[in-house]
Amino acid sequence: MIPVPPSFIAGVQRALAHPAPGIDPWFGQYYDDLGSELGLVTYLRAKQQLLELVGGWRSVAGKRVLDAGSGFGMVSNLMAAWGARHVMALELFPPMAESHLRVLATHFPELVERISVVEGDVKQVPARSASVDLLLSIEAISHYYDVDAFLDECARVVRPGGYLLISDGNNGANPGLRRFTVDLWERYEAGPAGRFGDREVGDSMLDRRRQIIAACFPQLPPGQVRTLAEGTSGMVRDEIVRAVEEHLAGAPAPARRYRRGELPRDPLHGYVLEALFDPPELAARLARRGFEARAVPHYGGARNDLLLAANRLLRHLPGFRFARAFRVVARRR
Ligand SMILES: C[S@@+](CC[C@H](N)C(=O)[O-])C[C@H]1O[C@@H](n2cnc3c(N)ncnc32)[C@H](O)[C@@H]1O
Repeated sequence: MIPVPPSFIAGVQRALAHPAPGIDPWFGQYYDDLGSELGLVTYLRAKQQLLELVGGWRSVAGKRVLDAGSGFGMVSNLMAAWGARHVMALELFPPMAESHLRVLATHFPELVERISVVEGDVKQVPARSASVDLLLSIEAISHYYDVDAFLDECARVVRPGGYLLISDGNNGANPGLRRFTVDLWERYEAGPAGRFGDREVGDSMLDRRRQIIAACFPQLPPGQVRTLAEGTSGMVRDEIVRAVEEHLAGAPAPARRYRRGELPRDPLHGYVLEALFDPPELAARLARRGFEARAVPHYGGARNDLLLAANRLLRHLPGFRFARAFRVVARRR
């Protein structure tokens, strides 16, 4: 028995079966799993189990929630369906925020009044100090460029007694996952596109920079465009254009080449890809900002009760070596 209103289930099913006009095509792929009953139940169980760390799904009722890096917004929708007084869905990538708004208006009209979809960066949260009861960062912190600025903002906007809940699959304390992810970073940076482990790699960051340079400086030959793209790793669009302009005006060519072990950065939107975290260290950074914080390893359990029971036991054991994912639960002092 899943504790969600039938209107929420119906909204998800309609949103996937009849995508609202103008939504990003990635929406369907992103929520592909929710198209089957098993997938939807698993998703809801995962969120229900996650919220157990901050008082359970029932405790969401009446709360002011901030969903930091809300993507296409299904978590925000679910929080509103669970009775949140207000949810701010804060998202950096405009096509995702715009798609969220359209899906909301078309398929979840009963929730529209209680959700604000805001395009913006978590490094500067557009909310008053101490105005948030529950701040969620779900599979998003590993994409934030400026994590410290985000943590500062958490300390500012979460009210005393309120909670921050971070959930992420990039547990850097797991050596196998760390090795895989460092290889994945290289692949994201330089390609080629295609399958890598359980990930699908799209256009490389190098290609994206090459496209920016070719579009802004059509007079340059392809070989020079490639060299400049290689020398502007980690830069965003404006920085790339400035570096190339300065070079064309006589300065040395930019020499910011990618080195193994660095995080790839999307040059168009500025997010990073799959940053790794040492969970206890992340909790310590929150403790220094006025939170009572603890890191919890996560071993799964959304699909099956045996694994859930094991997860509930294992998460009390010290050590993060074997867990793929982690959560950080923090209460503002
Ligand atoms: C993997 S998605 C997760 C989305 C959603 N939380 C979920 O659980 O489905 C991560 C999201 O974080 C967003 N993001 C990355 N950096 C951000 C930032 N600095 N500020 C706001 N959103 C950001 C990305 O655009 C992306 O939509």
